[in-house]
Amino acid sequence: MDWGQSNRLSNIIKPETGKTVMLAVDHGYFLGPTSGLEEPKKTLEPILKYADTLMLTRGVLRNCVDTSIDVPIVLRVSGGTSVLQDDLSKEGITVATKDAVKLNASGIALSIFVGSDNERETLLNMAKIIDDAEEYGLVSLAVTAVGKDMVRDSRYLGLASRIAAELGSHIVKTYYCDDFEKVVRACPVPIVIAGGKKIPEKDALVLARNAIDRGAVGVDMGRNIFQSDSPVGMIQAVREVVHNNATPDVAYDLYNTIKNEK
Ligand code: R5P
Repeated sequence: MDWGQSNRLSNIIKPETGKTVMLAVDHGYFLGPTSGLEEPKKTLEPILKYADTLMLTRGVLRNCVDTSIDVPIVLRVSGGTSVLQDDLSKEGITVATKDAVKLNASGIALSIFVGSDNERETLLNMAKIIDDAEEYGLVSLAVTAVGKDMVRDSRYLGLASRIAAELGSHIVKTYYCDDFEKVVRACPVPIVIAGGKKIPEKDALVLARNAIDRGAVGVDMGRNIFQSDSPVGMIQAVREVVHNNATPDVAYDLYNTIKNEK
């Protein structure tokens, strides 16, 4: 890893704690105006300052985020399907890496669909953007997307995460599962977890705690923050878990305190 990549990686994963709270708001790339992200600018305005990294698409970055922000960007560079399709795995590369550099991205992220009909193409796309990341000094992040028929267990997620790392991804984003430590142990690069569908705030904090305790370097969380009844409270509570080793109970109290301040 060269100096630029190392520098960008340390902007994403904070050296003080070795952890990161990435805020994922890229869902519109296949879901359109999904709940909580109908107006991305409004969603982001109060919570952006609590994010260590912002994961989003080129269009939302350009149109809904002020150029003066100092939060590192991980740009989603895969897409090509919508929620109207049965098979979401037919993704291609949607952003030229040169444009990601022009947008001052620290990293580029692409979904791989291991086990799908499109496995080969998405893995080769991953390899391509990893090569680009090496050329331009960016961080590459692989998202282990899970098809409808796949089981989110440690065997499958371990397989997909390991393949992503073997291809050369610098960070792997996957899902929490039972025996998550097995996924982490077999993956030689840092892992962040997606939050998944909205669940009660306390449960999402337990999820984050479990993931960190079992070796994740952080979360790349979306819906459990921006669909919360207090996104500002929730993102700060997640930070307490990830960076300050808070228990879910303590973090949940913080969430309630901030929520009730209004
Ligand atoms: C998939 O749509 C995106 O990569 C999301 O960024 C990812 O699923 C994380 O968001 P959430 O915490 O809502 O699952």
